[in-house]
Amino acid sequence: MKSVVIYNNKGGVGKTTIAVHCALRAALHHRLRTVAIGLDRQGDILRWLSGGEVWVGDGTVHEHSPNLTVIYSPNQQPNMRLNADLVVMDSSPSLALAGNVRTDLVVVPVDGRLALDDLQNALPDLIESQAKLLVVMNRADAGGTKTLAALKRACAKVPKMTIWPAMVPDSAALKRAAEYYRPVWDVPYGENSEGAKAIKALSDDILQMLGLGARR
Ligand SMILES: Nc1ncnc2c1ncn2[C@@H]1O[C@H](COP(=O)(O)OP(=O)(O)OP(=O)(O)O)[C@@H](O)[C@H]1O
Ligand SMILES: [Mg+2]
Repeated sequence: MKSVVIYNNKGGVGKTTIAVHCALRAALHHRLRTVAIGLDRQGDILRWLSGGEVWVGDGTVHEHSPNLTVIYSPNQQPNMRLNADLVVMDSSPSLALAGNVRTDLVVVPVDGRLALDDLQNALPDLIESQAKLLVVMNRADAGGTKTLAALKRACAKVPKMTIWPAMVPDSAALKRAAEYYRPVWDVPYGENSEGAKAIKALSDDILQMLGLGARR
């Protein structure tokens, strides 16, 4: 079983958006047995993956589809044996990562404006976690390329940290996906959008980093 946590100590940078699409891509496209866990007090991943139907209370388990189970377990990794190929965890900004969460990979979304501050604040926790680290530029705008260059300089000294070579664009379709509680490829004008293409490619690269990419 492999695990990935989507983490940033700042809010609103795209953690839940990436976690939802990565879990769906793994379960529905790659047919991996996937468990998505909301470590986030808001319960956003559970609400999104149930289409807004499920009441979110501590310990809620929702069977999304044969290969995807969603668990709400705010602020801690559930202490249970999970029969899964992949666990995707959506973390809360306030979560202390190191010590609290065991994982193979940490994906850190950053947006253009706050990228460097976010990352520098989170670095001690990220390094201590000893997981592989993947920094992803989300909602990259015109300043994205400049920020990416600055990020590369800041990350050069951090072991096991890579920066995703592409970016997730600021995408109206991804925004609609969150509003409709649906995946981006199921919202109007979503399927062929740049946002959908980017988040599929990112999800596949995350699976590849975990050694899970080949199975279909
Ligand atoms: N690439 C994108 N393009 C357009 N909108 C986006 C993109 N990524 C995220 N958003 C929007 O930004 C808002 C915050 O995204 P999201 O909920 O994924 O962030 P978060 O890091 O999980 O936030 P929180 O810290 O509150 O848990 C949502 O309205 C979402 O639709
Ligand atoms: Mg969230």
